[in-house]
This record gives sequence, structure tokens and C-alpha cells, in this order.
Amino acid sequence: MNAVIKNSPSTPYKIRDINLSELGRKRIRMAEEEMPGLMQIRARYAPLQPLQGVRLSGSLHMTKETAVLIETLVALGASVRWASCNIFSTQDDAAAAIATTGVPVFAWKGETLEEYWQCTLNMLTHPGEGVQDLLGPQLIVDDGGDATLLIHHGVEMEDGSDWVEQPGVNHEEQVVKDLLKRTRSERPGFWKTVASGWQGVSEETTTGVHRLYQLAEAGKLLVPAINVNDSVTKSKFDNLYGCRESLADGIKRATDLMIAGKTAVVCGYGDVGKGCAHSLRGFGARVIVTEIDPICALQAAMEGFEVTTIEDTLGRADVYVTTTGNRDIITFESMQGMKNNTLVCNIGHFDNEIQVDRLNTAEGVTCDTIKPQVDRYTFPDGHSIYLLAEGRLVNLGCAHGHPAFVMSNSFCNQTLAQIDLWAHRKTYDKEVYRLSKKLDEEVARLHLKQIGVKLTTLTAEQSAYLGIPVDGPYKAEHYRY
Ligand SMILES: NC(=O)c1ccc[n+]([C@@H]2O[C@H](COP(=O)([O-])OP(=O)(O)OC[C@H]3O[C@@H](n4cnc5c(N)ncnc54)[C@H](O)[C@@H]3O)[C@@H](O)[C@H]2O)c1
Repeated sequence: MNAVIKNSPSTPYKIRDINLSELGRKRIRMAEEEMPGLMQIRARYAPLQPLQGVRLSGSLHMTKETAVLIETLVALGASVRWASCNIFSTQDDAAAAIATTGVPVFAWKGETLEEYWQCTLNMLTHPGEGVQDLLGPQLIVDDGGDATLLIHHGVEMEDGSDWVEQPGVNHEEQVVKDLLKRTRSERPGFWKTVASGWQGVSEETTTGVHRLYQLAEAGKLLVPAINVNDSVTKSKFDNLYGCRESLADGIKRATDLMIAGKTAVVCGYGDVGKGCAHSLRGFGARVIVTEIDPICALQAAMEGFEVTTIEDTLGRADVYVTTTGNRDIITFESMQGMKNNTLVCNIGHFDNEIQVDRLNTAEGVTCDTIKPQVDRYTFPDGHSIYLLAEGRLVNLGCAHGHPAFVMSNSFCNQTLAQIDLWAHRKTYDKEVYRLSKKLDEEVARLHLKQIGVKLTTLTAEQSAYLGIPVDGPYKAEHYRY
């Protein structure tokens, strides 16, 4: 695609087209109507200005729902800069509407990896007091951990690590290394400046949370972090019910494929996999699940899904969806063994669930782009597969991600996490925290009225009988929902 990227001289933003802002604003208003929780949190906290003057950077899909989050953080007093966390997920009209408000935003649909990481750097670079001064964010909203990763590697480089000098294991890692080396010569000491002012990060997704726990376990985490993903009102709603709607949306917008009657394989039966498997079955597909975890495999079987290995499905399935957050789930060999015209896509955070690099470099395999984010690969034996969004998350690459109502739940948690991190910046350790169950229940409560839910109230006798306060929390920490 020939992108015309506007780099405004007056406002520091880089987006596709500022003229899309009016459309973006209309769609943001529609999203607000479906985000009752987030709008109530905005109304409740804006007068208190809990993030007054805080430098805040966000790396999270630049959609219309994220625009509502950004405007909430601004209303709470923060000085916000934003980039997307995926090269295909930006809604250009939403980005334009946000740029129009004066928030520096660096995101457009169809970035190259070089552009993506430059946008991430721009989003992390706040102006300081003097013209030459560059500062980092005090708080970060991260999705998948790329912003967090860049700062950690930057600090390690300035501490003498030679990681950037080693050849990257893939193209993207080399892009990160090249960017860091450039910052070393253009802005020496920048990453330590960033680290010294950085107070905390709230992480949106399973994959990013996994990375945070790995950093914390290695004693390398630079700041306190809040695991937003494992709020019940995030992972049990966004990951499950969000994907239940947005997976099919991505497949349909990309291909118009009739799902009914097809055989579909869902790799992974965690929260995202459950949403995907039930969605495809709802359309009339025969769904097969693959799992490594006996509990999740048993759950899938108890829901009536066939559970088997991927090898066992080759040649009989029409659709494959990876949902694992793990690498090499669909190998090149798997794709070689698929039947003609199989559709392959991923809804997990990163593109390494499918061996796209091997597909692109394999001898004799040709690629025909049907339209952006829809490619048909033909193998030497003549059979083809369709790959969506180049193996990146299909619901954001080929459609508009989750509906606003479910994102309202996720972004209530994000907003509360940012307030909490700032309020406890002097007392929190460099560990991974979660929001309290009381706040989790509060997020759910904020969404009941709009969908006509009437809650039952515990009587005093029931409350005493169960030992549960009338106004919650209603479940013990170990309860799994
Ligand atoms: N696209 C989106 O909108 C969206 C939304 C939420 C989460 N995510 C991402 O989706 C991914 C999954 O998230 P989740 O919350 O469902 O995680 P999860 O941990 O609940 O589920 C992942 C499942 O995959 C299974 N798995 C791991 N390796 C496997 C393998 N080799 N074969 C088969 N199964 C395997 C695990 O046992 C687990 O049950 C993550 O990358 C997450 O960040 C995407």
C-alpha cells in the first residue's frame, strides 16, 4: 500500500491522514455510548485529577476504543503520547481524531517494522524543560510488552550488555537492535534517563504479562507493574467474549468465507481459544481443538469438541486459528500438509505462532496478495493456503478488534491500574501486582445497567451465613470463575 504519512510540523504526530479526523470523532462517539464503565470512571475521577501532569506513554492498538481510553487518561490530567502495538491494528480515522486534540500519536495501518519501532521510540520520548531535553514516560500502558522490552534492552545496553551487537535471531529483533544502536549515538544516556523517571507499567495482555513475570523472576524488572490481563473483568471477558465476536469478524471481512459446514482447528483452549472455538461452532463449523494442557484439553472435550494433535488434522481441516501465545504452532510442514485452499490465521499476540518467515523464504512457494492482509501461498505440489494478516492477530489486522462494550471493561482496569500505580509509586516494589477483587467487581458493576441486569442483594442473614460482606468482595482470591 502506498501510504501518505503526514508528519505535522506544528503538532508532533505521525499518522496516515488528518482529514480522517471527523469520521474518527463520529466513531469515537459511538464507542463512548458502548463504554459505560469507562465513561463513568472518567466522570468520577476527572474532578480529582489523579494523573495531574503525569507523563504517560501508551503502546496499545490505536483503535476508536483506545481513543476513549486516551481521552479518559487526558481527562484525569495525564500528558499522553501514543503508538500502536501492532503494525496492522491502527484505525486511521481514530488516530486522526486523537491527533487533532493535540495528543501526539504515532500510528497508521500498515507500518513497516522499522516504522513501528520508530513510532514506539517517539511515543516513549517526552519533551523536557529545555529544547534539547528528552524525557521518558512516568507511566506506561503496554500491550504485549514491546515498550517495556525496549526500555529494558536500552538500559542493559547502556550498562554494557553486548546484546545489540549480536546478530538478531529474526528481522524484527535486528530492527530493535539497530534502533537501540542509533539511540546510543544520537541520544547517549537516554535509556537511563527514561528508567530513572519511570514509575510503573500496566500490561494489557497474556503474552505481555508472561514477559513481566519472567523479568520479575529474573530480578530485572525496573518498575512496579500491574497485570491488567488477569483481572477477571479483562481475561474472562475481552479474551473470551471479545474473540468470540472479533475472530469471525476478521475472517469474514478478509474472505467472506462460509464457516458453516467447514472443519476448523483452534490451537489452544485458554480464554482466547474458548471464545474462538465456540464462535466457530456457533457458525456451524465442526471444531477440533489442540492443547498441551490436560485440564484445558479435558474442558474442550467436555464441551463436545474433538481434541487431537495438529498432525492428525492435516488434510481434513479447512480453517486453522492459533490462539496459544506460543511459537511454532503451525509449522511450515503443517502448511505443506494442508488441503487446497485452507485458511490459516492467528489471533494470539505475536506472529510467531505460524512459521511465516519460513513460508516466505521457502523455495518454490509463491505468494499472491489478494488484498492487503490477505495472501494466497501456492506450494510446489500445486495446493494453496490463504494466510490472513501475515500471521498477526487477525481480529485487529483484518477487522476492528473487539466491540467497544467489552473493551470498556478492559480499559476500566487499565485506568484504575494507572491511578493505582501513580498513587503507590513510593510504596510499590518492583513486582507484578493485580488490582483488588473489589475493583474487579466494581468494573463489572459499572456495566450492568446498560444491558439491563438486575443484581440480587444479600440479606444480612445470608451475608452472615456465608461470611461475605453485603457489598463484596463476593469470592475468595482462589475462586476461578
Ligand atoms: N487478538 C486479541 O484480541 C487477543 C485478546 C486477548 C489475548 N490475546 C493473546 O492471545 C494469546 C492467548 O491468550 P489467552 O489469554 O487465551 O492465554 P491462555 O494462557 O489462557 O491460553 C493459551 C492456551 O494455549 C495452550 N498452548 C500453549 N502451547 C500450545 C501448543 N503448542 N499447542 C496447543 N496449545 C498450546 C495453553 O495450554 C493455553 O491453554 C496471547 O498471546 C494473548 O496475548 C489476543
